[in-house]
Amino acid sequence: MEIITRRQRMSMVTRKLRREEAKTIGLVPTMGALHDGHLSLVREARRMCEVVIVSIFVNPTQFGPNEDYEKYPRDLTKDTTLLADYNVDYIFAPSVEEIYPKGFSTYVTVEGLSNQLEGAARPGHFRGVATVLTILFNIIRPDFAFFGQKDAQQTIVVKRLVRDLAFDTEIVVLPTVRETSGLALSSRNAYLNEEERRAAAVLYRALTRAEQAYINGERSARKLIEIVGAEVATEPRVRLDYVSVNDAETLEKLDKLEDQTALLSLAAYVGSTRLIDNVVLHPARQRVRSMAES
Ligand code: PAF
Repeated sequence: MEIITRRQRMSMVTRKLRREEAKTIGLVPTMGALHDGHLSLVREARRMCEVVIVSIFVNPTQFGPNEDYEKYPRDLTKDTTLLADYNVDYIFAPSVEEIYPKGFSTYVTVEGLSNQLEGAARPGHFRGVATVLTILFNIIRPDFAFFGQKDAQQTIVVKRLVRDLAFDTEIVVLPTVRETSGLALSSRNAYLNEEERRAAAVLYRALTRAEQAYINGERSARKLIEIVGAEVATEPRVRLDYVSVNDAETLEKLDKLEDQTALLSLAAYVGSTRLIDNVVLHPARQRVRSMAES
């Protein structure tokens, strides 16, 4: 496993792998502080691709001025040790100056999808994500790039980015990895104390209550949102930021769930830590499940 810090070297290595060796390249883009969620992406990349590259870069442009860029957990030594066990070929760990050299002034915005939900709560966040991914995709030119469903809106934005800008990269989205309590794994869970960690499990409990109501036939977005709100309210350490039901592809806000796949997503503060989570409501799959249960 080689750790590469310069973009020129990274481009050179991947160009050679593509042109001379015709290898399939998989990229797992991360900000480090790796957990089992990231490792599930690495495992799938290893299964699908001949060469696996993990990028580790805490991207300043996707953090707002009052967000946790400075305190975001960073431990390259620990991440490197973990990735060595997963047979990763390259770690790309550039500095901020390497990605955003002096005079950098080009940003990518995926319009329409970027200014609601997380985008409304974190203005500029998806512009930063789309910009850094454009740079990484251009440097590495991966055949596949791997993302977790926990960051549902990010996966929707990235799929649109790749389609609109004609990147030759397929986006692979893998299920959210959870603790046994249901809490979705996130690097930001490191900010939680023991009590908060226990309390945070209410988020998935609330989402699955609403999902169950959906399976039982509830089709009003307002009712599903109320179910989530009522469950979260049982946990005084947790304060909802938003709960929303949107079309899972266009992110259009839904009042009534009909035949489209919907995203039920939320953000909440647990103490001072902001966490996100979601479930996807599939009409066809739910119908099959209810038929099997009846
Ligand atoms: O999901 C993340 O960790 C980041 O948003 C990503 C995709 C690595 C871009 O910085």
